[in-house]
This record gives sequence, structure tokens and C-alpha cells, in this order.
Amino acid sequence: MKVLVIGPGGREHAIIRSLLNDPFVTEVHAAPGNAGIAADVQAHAVDAQNPEAVLALARELQSSLVIVGPEAPLAAGVADALTAANIPVFGPSQAAAQLEASKAFAKEIMAIAGVPTAMARVATDAVSAADALDAFGAPYVVKDDGLAAGKGVVVTGDREEALAHAAECFAAGGSVVIEEFLDGPEVSLFVLSDGRHAVPLAPAQDFKRIFDDDQGPNTGGMGAYSPLEWLPEGFVDDVMERVAGPTINAMADRGTPFTGVLYCGLALTRRGIRVIEFNARFGDPETQAVLARLKTPLGSLLLAAAQGTLDDVEPLTWRPETAVGVVVASAHYPDAPVTGDVITGLDEAAALEGVSVLHAGTAVNDAGATISAGGRVLAVVGLGKSLSSARERAYAGIAKIGLAGSQHRTDIALRAEQGKIIVEPEGH
Ligand code: AMP
Ligand code: GLY
Repeated sequence: MKVLVIGPGGREHAIIRSLLNDPFVTEVHAAPGNAGIAADVQAHAVDAQNPEAVLALARELQSSLVIVGPEAPLAAGVADALTAANIPVFGPSQAAAQLEASKAFAKEIMAIAGVPTAMARVATDAVSAADALDAFGAPYVVKDDGLAAGKGVVVTGDREEALAHAAECFAAGGSVVIEEFLDGPEVSLFVLSDGRHAVPLAPAQDFKRIFDDDQGPNTGGMGAYSPLEWLPEGFVDDVMERVAGPTINAMADRGTPFTGVLYCGLALTRRGIRVIEFNARFGDPETQAVLARLKTPLGSLLLAAAQGTLDDVEPLTWRPETAVGVVVASAHYPDAPVTGDVITGLDEAAALEGVSVLHAGTAVNDAGATISAGGRVLAVVGLGKSLSSARERAYAGIAKIGLAGSQHRTDIALRAEQGKIIVEPEGH
């Protein structure tokens, strides 16, 4: 099978590494990729968000499967163009990708499907925003109603800051969704869907804030680990029954079946599981941790999702180890990432036992050196027998990497290692 992977990031690099281990995959190509991806497979300088350009490349390469990584190409209709040309594609249509592209649409589907989520109101001006903030009270949650790569959300105790974020979104011509605050630990669960059948991967936890102890602004994600030992038994079944199943059915019923991965961003609150958000793609950096443990050949699995045959797939198999991924971000990420600096120690990190280095925003300069080219630059993944050993390995890898002014969190998976994550029993 010849596979083409669309996207430039760490998630795509993790998918490609996994495909290279699939005995049924004979060729892997990427577009546009990054420095790390180009070192592993052939990368093509094609605009990922141009459906015609992606289709032309898939035709030229005679791809048997195209995997679309990020949300922007999905929202631009890349999957639709491939489907129309009968090329199997893993990733939803433009219409189904609305589950991520519009928070208001996602809320509507959840209401139809009876899926538990935060109470929310859409506001289009300062007056309705203030009303909604006061109705729910502090802490305030204000979300830009569009694609913002995880950075369009402000959670704050400061009413003025909440109003200022709403005003910014209105000024840009958008609306906002204002929500009740959900307490409790967060979990990301990736559910593969072929439009009718669904198969969950292993749950992961992401770290959204830039600084240790969940301080500072939200980012796309600064680290992740999987599996989550502290989850209550039956958690994944519950999510399938109460969240993923009903959502996938509702999407099929309205004539926009969801094919690809439904990313369920969940909070385990005192009142039970609540959906924080849906995404229409794999999470980044959770994918780097989750796929490090997947033994089932990935290409065949995603092809089954693309072709409507997920029902025939054998139960997934996983390595027993734990995976911890730590992101190296540029100086001044997320506000104004500095790029163009040389990265050192990549080979030394990757040579350590149980360590892999996945590239995100990287490029090669004229002198042939690997340089930073984005906000999130790398994810260093440690795979170990226990959470402590996986953390140790990831941070041993991080210690080898040099990048001027770079930032990383030192507490990825730390509270889990210390047994400090508490899930309140429902109703308490
Ligand atoms: P989103 O882009 O919707 O995932 O939001 C980004 C992050 O903001 C989430 O991962 C949460 O940490 C936080 N967040 C979003 N919505 C809520 C909410 N209703 N209550 C508490 N935290 C939230
Ligand atoms: N890690 C969060 C996301 O991919 O949206």
C-alpha cells in the first residue's frame, strides 16, 4: 500500500514513523512535511490546503490511501476532492469537519445527540457576551467560534480579560461561545470512525498551558502521556456509549457521515464526563505518545476507516509500556515564536534507549543545519516500563537538545506519577 500523509507537524511525523513499521505499507510520501519527515520519507512541496494540488499529487503517486493530519486542509475540502476522485482518504469531509471548525455546530450536534457538554451560549456582541459571562459566573470560558489551533480559548477568573477576548473576536468579525467552567482532569480520546462503526485508541492526557503547574496562556499542547492508569474502569466504554457513538450516529443521520478520527476532548467532572471540544483529526502532541504504543499496523487500520470496513478489524494491540512526550517550543511561543535558530543534539537524543525525536516546526537551512521553523519545534517521546521510567527517558532526551531560548515544561505526567490525579466519583 502506498500512503500519502498531508501536514507539516509532529502528529504527521508520528503517523509516518508508525506507517514505516506497517508491513503492508510499501511506500510513504509526505506533503509538505518538515525536516524530520523529509529525512524519513520523500516530502513534496505541495500546499496542504489546496484540494486540487493534493489530488494531483495523490494521482501522480498512485496513492492507495491519503491521511490528512491537520484541521485546515479538512476545513478546506481536501478530503472531498480525494473522495470525488475515488481515492481512499482518512479524514472527514468539509461538512463533517464542522465538528471542529465551528464550536457552535459542535454544540448543536451534541444537543441533538444528547451528548453531555458544558452549557454554552453564543454571543455576537459585547452586551450578549457580558450577559452570558454573568449567567455562568467565574471562572469564565470564552472561545473563538472558529479554527484557532487550540489557542482561541481564554479561561480566566478576570471578567475584564474575558470581555476583552470576546471583543477581539468580534473585532475580527467573529462570534464567541461562552461556557460554564468544567472542573476535573482532562482526557483526550481518539475514536476512529468509518462513518458508521467506531474504534477507540488508548486515552491520553495533554498539557495545554505553556508553563509548569498549568500557568500561562493556552498553547496547542506542551506534552502528553498514555495510557492513563488513574482512569476509572469502563471509562472508554462510557465515552463510546455516551459521546462518540451518539455523535457519529447523529452525523450519519444528517447526511454528513464522519470518517476519520473524532478527537473527544473530555473533562471528568463531579457530575460525570463532559465534552470540552471535538476535533476532526488526531491531537498533537497526544498522537506522538499514543502511536508510540500501538502495535496494530496503522496503515491498514486507517485504510479500513477510509473504506467503511472498521467492523472487520481485529481488536487493537498495544505495547505494555507507557509513553511520555515532551514538546520543545520556540522562545516566545505561543505569542510570537522566534524561528530560524539551529537545533543541536537531535541525533544524540534519538540514540538514547527508549527515546524518539519527532519533528514539528523544523526546516533545513542553506548550510544543511536543522533549524526551528515554528512555535512547537519537536516532541521527545520516552517509552518505558513505568510512567517514571518513560518520564526519565523523555527528559534525558530533552537534556541533549540545544535550541536558543527554547521552552519546555518540566512537569509533563508528573502529577500522575505522584498519584495526585483525583477523579471524583460521579454525584459527589
Ligand atoms: P478547546 O480549544 O475548546 O479545547 O479549549 C482549550 C482548553 O481550554 C481545554 O483543553 C481546557 O483546558 C480549557 N477549557 C476549554 N473549555 C473549558 C471549560 N468549559 N471549562 C474548563 N476549561 C475549559
Ligand atoms: N493537543 C490538542 C490538540 O491537538 O488540539
